[in-house]
Amino acid sequence: MNIAVFVSGNGTNLQAIIDAVKSGYIKARIAVVLSDRKDAHAMERAKKAGVETVFVDPKAHKSREDFDSAIIDCLERREIELICLAGYMRLLTPAFIRRYRNRILNVHPALLPSFKGLNGVKDALDYGVKITGPTVHFVTEDVDSGPIIAQSVVQVEDGDTEDSLREKVHKEEHKIYPKAVKDFVEGKLKLKGRRVVRK
Ligand code: GAR
Repeated sequence: MNIAVFVSGNGTNLQAIIDAVKSGYIKARIAVVLSDRKDAHAMERAKKAGVETVFVDPKAHKSREDFDSAIIDCLERREIELICLAGYMRLLTPAFIRRYRNRILNVHPALLPSFKGLNGVKDALDYGVKITGPTVHFVTEDVDSGPIIAQSVVQVEDGDTEDSLREKVHKEEHKIYPKAVKDFVEGKLKLKGRRVVRK
């Protein structure tokens, strides 16, 4: 199976997926890493691992639909069957999501449906929750609302800062995201309404 990973930033989740593919834990190929930011550190990680990188410049397209349709071309040429969003900080258009229905995964740094949006770690800390953690889910038209594949819990300690909490959440992301990708690739994930169950 050919996988595409979409990134915008540091790429630690991309790294976890690269490592899991290299070790044979995930039996698939990362065919392309695609970024909307030329200088994303994730692109360096991909190049270092010998994975093809593609930068798609949002400024070179007149609408979000145009931008996403350029991406679809890029994915179709590479026969991509699974898309992993890994810190990709851009909303996908409904047309894109329809084209790859139930084939797009995302990792979010909070226990959905709590703390959707761009600041999952900070919002949870500010709210004062005692537990939080990452969620891996299918992407649907409603932001951060798709069927949940995996979650993991971390304790929020009194002394936690946004940085220390983010680090704890990241550590868990790096465990549950590769496992979710592996389960998808092996055809183990089944949707029952909005519940994801293992076959
Ligand atoms: C991850 O913590 C991921 O949960 C978050 O971006 C970070 C990317 O880190 N995604 C979102 O907040 C999406 N709403 P990484 O670039 O080191 O993988």
